[in-house]
Amino acid sequence: VRTPTPEDKFSFGLWTVGWPARDQFGDATRPDLDPVESVHKLAELGASYVTFHDDDVVPFGSNDADRERILERFQAALTETGIEVEMVTTNTFTHPIFKDGAFTSNDRRVRRYGLRKVLRNVDLAGRLGAKTFVMWGGREGAEYDSAKDLKAAHDRYAEGIDAVAGYIKEQGYDLKIALEPKPNEPRGDILLPTIGHALALIDRLDNADIVGLNPEVGHEQMAGLNYTTGIAEALWAEKLFHIDLNGQKSIKYDQDLVFGHGDLFSAFATVDLLENGFPSGGPTYDGPRHFDYKPSRTEHLQGVWDSAAANMATYILLAERAKAFREDPEVKAAMEEAGVFDLAIPTMSEGETFADLLADRSAYEDLDVDAVAERNYGFVRLNQLALEHALGAR
Ligand code: GCO
Ligand code: MN
Ligand code: MN
Ligand code: MN
Repeated sequence: VRTPTPEDKFSFGLWTVGWPARDQFGDATRPDLDPVESVHKLAELGASYVTFHDDDVVPFGSNDADRERILERFQAALTETGIEVEMVTTNTFTHPIFKDGAFTSNDRRVRRYGLRKVLRNVDLAGRLGAKTFVMWGGREGAEYDSAKDLKAAHDRYAEGIDAVAGYIKEQGYDLKIALEPKPNEPRGDILLPTIGHALALIDRLDNADIVGLNPEVGHEQMAGLNYTTGIAEALWAEKLFHIDLNGQKSIKYDQDLVFGHGDLFSAFATVDLLENGFPSGGPTYDGPRHFDYKPSRTEHLQGVWDSAAANMATYILLAERAKAFREDPEVKAAMEEAGVFDLAIPTMSEGETFADLLADRSAYEDLDVDAVAERNYGFVRLNQLALEHALGAR
């Protein structure tokens, strides 16, 4: 596999490689990593960007002087390595104060504290020149249906997001918000569980223009959904502001495997869409290829860096295979036969009235429905071509 270059735009959350592998059932299996060391190591491996939660770099509760000192040391590592911060996010889930959420906590003191914590980090994002501010509402939810006024919860969630967006505009930062849906974990049920739910909420915001999505592979798959279809809708709505790539094997706890180590063929489809766009054109994603995974608990530090490299290598391989797939004349012919390009033709002609449509006997009265029903779409053959390209057999 070739080594990553800046054109690949690979990005890693510092909490990914930095995870000491403490889980629900067991203690940490690895030492804490110094974020400065992670920046250097990720740069060596060929990444271009890092992202982080406030608390990943500056320990929760640090005073202003300590925070400043830590940030200066961190910024020196960025300058030294050429690594940039493309996205910043806020931890509103670890400290017990957030046990009932932040923006949707039943306790107004928590909501105001959460908002202040987020705004403090928006300022940092502005200072570091980040372009995206991710908001993952991991604890915005409940275990019990009786615990929340769910109408008020949606009101408060929208209020909080609009407040952050309004602050970004007031400060004049070149920053967009990307909401990250997740169906459950750590809460029993999380608000904005899927891409579709989040898109619907964004539509009702006052500041919807700077709010989009950061969909994660595993989160959609935890809900049994197709990630590629999900990001396609986000692209179509021009709301795909950022992505979290990782691996997941079906509907179960959040696995955060290396990208491609879950549903590999689905990962191929995702990379094909990200790299090559829709078959007949349309909005594309050209932002960072951001990995949000966890090095498995069985791995020591070598395994951490092996798994970081594995994310990038898998992406590169899939991008090469997807390019070959789209360029193959046999594939183009199969796509044509399957009607893939025909779907881009509007169903009603330009300027066609309902009267015109109703008068078109060929569309209804004279249509030989049985003959049309007999069509062989050839989707299976096309899919097999995709699979053979994905496996490098073509
Ligand atoms: C998770 C989430 C997080 C977020 C991160 C950024 O399942 O834990 O994916 O990793 O992406 O908090 O907001
Ligand atoms: Mn996640
Ligand atoms: Mn995950
Ligand atoms: Mn994520």
